[in-house]
Amino acid sequence: MENRKRILSGMRPTGALHLGNFHGALANWVDMQNQYDCFFFVADWHALTSDYENPGTIAGFVKEMMLDWLSVGLSPDKCTLFVQSHVKEHAELFLLLSMLTPVPWLERNPTYKDQIVQLENKDLSTFGFLGYPVLQAADIIIYKADRVPVGVDQVPHVEITREIARRFNYLYGDVFPEPESILTQTPKILGLDRRKMSKSYNNAIYLSDSPDAIQKKVARMITDPQRMRRSDPGNPDVCNVFTFHKIYSDQATVGSVDQMCRKAEIGCVECKQKMAAFLVDALAPVRAKRKEYETRPGLVDDIIQAGGDKARAVAQKTMADVRRAIGI
Ligand code: TRP
Ligand code: SF4
Repeated sequence: MENRKRILSGMRPTGALHLGNFHGALANWVDMQNQYDCFFFVADWHALTSDYENPGTIAGFVKEMMLDWLSVGLSPDKCTLFVQSHVKEHAELFLLLSMLTPVPWLERNPTYKDQIVQLENKDLSTFGFLGYPVLQAADIIIYKADRVPVGVDQVPHVEITREIARRFNYLYGDVFPEPESILTQTPKILGLDRRKMSKSYNNAIYLSDSPDAIQKKVARMITDPQRMRRSDPGNPDVCNVFTFHKIYSDQATVGSVDQMCRKAEIGCVECKQKMAAFLVDALAPVRAKRKEYETRPGLVDDIIQAGGDKARAVAQKTMADVRRAIGI
């Protein structure tokens, strides 16, 4: 039945998902589930590589993340949605791949070097953190994925995955295809303060925000920084609120805001209120779906369980091939 290409991707459960995550990754996933045989998973073991001191927070975010996914329209009828730690075969393959992965490949990994510097408040001099890409390789090739949609920061990991797959095939015979990354566009929208939208900057609008929270956040957004007074003409081209308008508002509104801003015929307060109304509307189906899932107790747990079973069946088949190839 399956001659569709297989897609696999994952996200670490580090908090609620925001509009940046949606436009940067999730929206693509939702599209892809109709064309490809998709596997999407919550990478809780990967989250543990940097947050091993606080496993409780990770566990709490796992179900939240699944709920975020479901609320934007990822469907268990169309794709396989699961949690990494529920498929123990990832750990077995990780162990075997670690035998053949040269340490210098991992030390050279640009993401590794960046993170060690950036997350200086955490002790990341662990074996698990260095081995992050080996676990990621296991995640990917255990499903014999053809394509891996990722942001640009993850491309080196997919590259290492290809090298590990190649080395495995060279040593033990052809078992794994070499996956290709599909670069997801970086989101065009910025956070409330015009920096990259990020949980840690406290500048994000979340998929789970209430209409009230959305309106309050939009009211805080930085607009065209050159526009000091209501009587100054503004420049929508440099205004993040206008970028949001282009995504969420109707054509007529975008056109009129564009004109009126340049002639100082609309103030930023009013302009933001208009945009917030469209944004609240655009997220209405997401809120409705979330509610559907939230109000049916056990439903999300059942979806996670069923997805894990489906994923495990595939992973077990691959592991049979792997054990046969190695002979152990
Ligand atoms: N490392 C990825 C990230 O931080 C998450 C991830 C783990 C992943 N395993 C994966 C992504 C496999 C794609 C494929 O975003
Ligand atoms: Fe931005 Fe709207 Fe203000 Fe113009 S009127 S600067 S588009 S918020």
